[in-house]
Amino acid sequence: MKRLFSVLRILGLTGLAVFLAEATLDTGESSAFESYPILWLILAVVVIIAIAIEVSIASLEKVLYNSLKPDAKLKYDEAIAKKQAEKYSWWKKTYKKLLDKKPLEKEEEIILDHNYDGIRELDNNLPPWWLYGFYASIIFAFVYLAKYHIFDGATQKEEYLQEVAEAKAAVEEYKKNAKGLVDANTVELLTADEDISAGKNTFEANCIACHKVDAGGGIGPNLTDDYWILGGGIKNVFHTISEGGRPGKGMVSWKTELKPDQIAQVASYVLSLQGTTPADPKEPQGELWVDPDAPVESTEVEKTEEGVKVIIEDSQTEK
Ligand code: HEC
Repeated sequence: MKRLFSVLRILGLTGLAVFLAEATLDTGESSAFESYPILWLILAVVVIIAIAIEVSIASLEKVLYNSLKPDAKLKYDEAIAKKQAEKYSWWKKTYKKLLDKKPLEKEEEIILDHNYDGIRELDNNLPPWWLYGFYASIIFAFVYLAKYHIFDGATQKEEYLQEVAEAKAAVEEYKKNAKGLVDANTVELLTADEDISAGKNTFEANCIACHKVDAGGGIGPNLTDDYWILGGGIKNVFHTISEGGRPGKGMVSWKTELKPDQIAQVASYVLSLQGTTPADPKEPQGELWVDPDAPVESTEVEKTEEGVKVIIEDSQTEK
C-alpha cells in the first residue's frame, strides 16, 4: 500500500512538471518538449529526485522504527494492528445489520417445530435490506400513481414526441442562420443588397483577371449574356464556380477558396449582371439558356436530360 502511494506521488509529480512546462511555455501548436529538448533532461532530473526522496523517506521510517526500545516497538505494533482491525468496521457492521442473520451457533433458537420428512425450517427475520426495499417500492408506487394517474404527467411517448419537435425546430432555426450549408442542389438566387455587394467584392477579388470587371469576358467567357457553356441559372452557375469548368479551360474549382455562402453570393452577383452591356463584350459562347421552369414558346426547344435548351444555329452556316 505504501509502495503504491509512493509510485502515485512520483507519477503525479511527473504529470505536474509536464503540465507546467506545457502551460507556461508559449510554443504554439507544437509541444514544449518538441521545441525545447532540454526539458526532457529537466524532467528526468525531477523524476530522479522524486524517487530519491521517496526512497529516503522509506528508509528513514525503518531506521526510526529500529531505534525504538523493545516495549515502545511493541506498543507501536499494537497500535498498527488495532488500526488495521478497525478498518472498514463501519461497513462490516452495516452489512451485518442489513442481513440480520442469526449466527450458526444460535440457530437452535429459531428452528421451527415441524419436521418435513427430516427437513426442518429456520424462522429467520426478513433481511432488512429486502424489507426496506419493499417499503421504498410501496412509497414509489404512490408517487408514481399520483404523478401519472392523478396529475396526468407526460408519458415517455409524449416526452419523446416533444423532444423530437423541439429538435426539429432547432434544426430549422440552425438552417435559417447557416448559409454555409448550401450546395448546388439547394442554392437559391440571392437578391438582398448585402449579398449582392458581398458577391461583387468576391468577384472583384478573384474573377476579374479572366472575366473583366464588368464580366464582359477575357480569358473566360462573357457572363452577362444569355449564352452559357456550362449552363445558366443559379444552380449551374454555382456548380461551375464550385467545381470549375471543363478540364484545361482555365476555370478552376473555387470550393477550397470560397465558402458555400460566398459562392452563392458571387453566383447571384454574376446573374445580377444579366442583360447589362459591358464595354468590350466577348462574343457569345455556348448555348442560349432558357430557364426550364419558365414557360417556353419557342419551337426550337429541345428537351434534354438537364432541362430545356434552345439550339442556336452556327452563324457561319447561315450565310
Ligand atoms: C484563370 C482565369 C479565370 C478565373 C480567375 C475565373 N474564371 Fe470563370 N471561367 C474561366 C474560363 C476559361 C471559363 C470557361 C470554362 C469552360 O469553357 O469550361 C470560365 C467559366 C466561368 C463560368 C461559366 C460560364 C459559362 O458560359 O458557362 C462562370 C459562371 C464563371 N467562370 C465565373 C467565375 C467566377 C465567379 C470567378 C471568380 C470566383 C471566376 N470565374 C474566375 C476563367 C476564369
